[in-house]
Amino acid sequence: MSTPSSVLSAPTAVREGAFGHAVHLVCRECRATQPLGPSYACQECFGPLEIGYEFPEVTRAQIEAGPKNIWRYQALLPVPADITGSPNMEPGFTRLLKADNLARELGIRKLWVKDDSGNPTHSFKDRVVAIALSAARELGMTVFACPSTGNLANAVAAAGARAGMKTVVFIPHDLETPKVVTSAVYTDSLVAVKGNYDDVNRLASEIAGEEEGWAFVNVNVRPYYAEGSKTLGYEVAEQLGWRLPRQVVIPVASGSQLTKVDKGFSELVQLGLVDDAPYTIFGAQAEGCSPVSQAFKAGHDVVRPVKPDTIAKSLAIGNPADGPYVLDVARRTGGAVEDVTDEEVREGIRLLARTEGVFAETAGGVTVAVLKKLVETGRLDPDEETVVFNTGDGLKTLDAIADRVGPAATIEPSYAAFMRTGLA
Ligand SMILES: Cc1ncc(COP(=O)(O)O)c(C=O)c1O
Ligand SMILES: [Zn+2]
Repeated sequence: MSTPSSVLSAPTAVREGAFGHAVHLVCRECRATQPLGPSYACQECFGPLEIGYEFPEVTRAQIEAGPKNIWRYQALLPVPADITGSPNMEPGFTRLLKADNLARELGIRKLWVKDDSGNPTHSFKDRVVAIALSAARELGMTVFACPSTGNLANAVAAAGARAGMKTVVFIPHDLETPKVVTSAVYTDSLVAVKGNYDDVNRLASEIAGEEEGWAFVNVNVRPYYAEGSKTLGYEVAEQLGWRLPRQVVIPVASGSQLTKVDKGFSELVQLGLVDDAPYTIFGAQAEGCSPVSQAFKAGHDVVRPVKPDTIAKSLAIGNPADGPYVLDVARRTGGAVEDVTDEEVREGIRLLARTEGVFAETAGGVTVAVLKKLVETGRLDPDEETVVFNTGDGLKTLDAIADRVGPAATIEPSYAAFMRTGLA
């Protein structure tokens, strides 16, 4: 095995407090630690790294007095105390909607939708990118970049523009047009690669190894980036009145988000900000790209890569970096990873829209459809409080349902014509 070049890079001098209360990088496999820096692979075993902290005492009141965005959790993130002073997209604190209509339709007693389509570029990716941007700045990196299935491209391009950084974004060539346009509008350096996401990701890793000073948010600054998803867990708990939900259903592509919501919940318990209570985490995939769900069902610990073929392109990662950790979390918390067909994804989008007025992108359709399937198959307890995540906006994936919805009638502008429709 060749040594990842990131492991060899010399520690960069960083200013005091650059990473807040983070103290080191920790290997998720062997727990070896190394200094904070632009590394993402363990020097001992090449396992992936995550951030370790020495948290100060943090109170609910301190958090509640903070800004209405993710920086209210600054003390729990690898960012400096003065983070709000540098230009960023200020994501987070999105709506937690009580979903009584959807709950009734599915036969669930208490259901909430965490609606992350309300972020600045309309997906949860603004959260992770905000942390990656801070890390890139503090590490003195000069180019802000990513391989993306679409939403990350939007978020990186916008945040890079606002930060005034050179930004280069790589996407698969066959992405949905709205996702291409909503990335390209922010940057002149959008690169469409003739391959699928896994090819784009490999190319990004190669460039990261060759070029100095490039911050690929989800590759060489991934330990920092990933921490942004903890804020979804923090917010849900805070918005529920400082308690953990009993069950959550979360979409899975690389699997990073799901594992960090779990980390967020356990940190809140560790800090005494919520009571220690059991929770169950379910993962959601599309059948046409379901390597984690397949491994879960087969009882495997490893995830066999697949070639994606699904309308849920934002979740189309065939070789998910965090797949095995998703399996751990689902099994440890008594959850599951399930998948649904593209037809069920379309129905999931429609179901959420017509019951709650929330227009999800395909990833949200996957998650709602998996929620429905979990209830129908008796694996999700309908009597326990449940939160389902909508992580992106339906306006970005219009094609998924464009031929399913439309005007009920096209009429002349007269009362008589309207009456003939039977809609009065
Ligand atoms: C809308 C949306 N939801 C969920 C995910 C899954 O995120 P992760 O790769 O952290 O599993 C993605 C990933 O691109 C996404 O775009
Ligand atoms: Zn290790």
